[in-house]
Amino acid sequence: LPDAARIKRQRRPAVVAHRGASGDRPEHTLAAYELALAQGAEGLECDVRLTRDHQLVCVHDRTIDRTSSGTGVVSEMTLAELREHDFGSWHRFGRPAQVLTLAELITLTLDWSSPARLFIETKHPVRFGGLVEQLLLAELHRFGIASPPSADHSRAAVISFSTAGAWRIRRNAPLLPTVLLGDTARILGGSAATAVGATGIGPSIATLRDHPDAVDRAAASGRATYCWTVDEYADVLHCARIGVDFVATNFPGRVREWLEPS
Ligand code: G3P
Ligand code: CA
Repeated sequence: LPDAARIKRQRRPAVVAHRGASGDRPEHTLAAYELALAQGAEGLECDVRLTRDHQLVCVHDRTIDRTSSGTGVVSEMTLAELREHDFGSWHRFGRPAQVLTLAELITLTLDWSSPARLFIETKHPVRFGGLVEQLLLAELHRFGIASPPSADHSRAAVISFSTAGAWRIRRNAPLLPTVLLGDTARILGGSAATAVGATGIGPSIATLRDHPDAVDRAAASGRATYCWTVDEYADVLHCARIGVDFVATNFPGRVREWLEPS
């Protein structure tokens, strides 16, 4: 990489691997997360859904049709049924892989030689009436990461488009960082985060291109900004310039390289 292409900044954004290094490996698989960590990702993003037998698994879509050899709705299947399918071979760089549970991802993250933070996204949690948050917090407690000494030292953050979901986490785990995802004026302006006690806002890159001032406004209220999904050089540069704290990308290796001081 030519020196001129590197982005120099006092405090660069931390690089979060979106569904793992999902540009180069099948999303939400162990291989995707291992590659992300090997490439120096400082955070790992995952989507969690509830199975019929109340296990939290890392799957983005409502169904497994796009990302596995099988078909079906995640919430209507048991973990054992999900394990019958291959979640890796559909990808052009994929190998056979099992569905990943949240517990397996936490174990990988905590066992890795360099510290990384998990950004756990609850997908449509409201229809489960609090069960997703209850099971998620139980898991974080089991691993001893539900009550960090400070937000900066937390190994986990919960992120969600659901205000009710974010609020439940905040109420039951007040020390855990929470990010309210979305592009509405209430999220950008901070009033939604204030209402639920979220410690960060999570707009998309499309919104931050048009509203770069939202980052400074969030920082003035003591809130971090988490931006998704940032794969292009110009967008990484933009995020670094306006002071975004966390960039979620499908290509953590290349984004880390762009952000590395020469
Ligand atoms: O990291 C937030 C981002 O992942 C939200 O969108 O659809 O990729 O879960 P989605
Ligand atoms: Ca997500």
